[in-house]
Amino acid sequence: MNLKSVAMAAVMALAALPVIAAEEGEEPEYGVLVDKPGAEETYIYCAACHSERIVAQQGLTREDWIELLEWMVDEQEMEEIEEPDYTIVLDYLSKHYNTDRPNFPK
Ligand code: HEC
Repeated sequence: MNLKSVAMAAVMALAALPVIAAEEGEEPEYGVLVDKPGAEETYIYCAACHSERIVAQQGLTREDWIELLEWMVDEQEMEEIEEPDYTIVLDYLSKHYNTDRPNFPK
């Protein structure tokens, strides 16, 4: 191997890296929702009628999430979420989709 082919091999190895990473990366299970405790429940309840993206794009305080869930029940025909799931979903939303928007979908 001369110097040029070593350099070529290095370039080709680098170019192949992102492909390998993409193949190994698993499909996120809950769409754009961040994979933390509560994601499954939130996805099941909230992606039934609309995309989970509409949820992830919000950045609300806990109080505002409570109001939004009430609105979802009162005006959008969502079934009321029973405990303990209600608290799981509310904790998840107010922790990961708060006003700092730490997980705003790209
Ligand atoms: C029974 C159907 C249904 C379920 C279940 C449901 N939604 Fe909705 N949601 C709607 C509809 C319909 C709209 C659109 C309302 C509109 O824009 O007039 C909506 C809109 C929204 C919006 C956008 C509000 C805005 O300001 O435009 C958010 C956020 C949202 N839902 C969050 C949730 C969350 C969180 C859950 C789970 C706890 C949930 N939804 C479950 C029907 C549902």
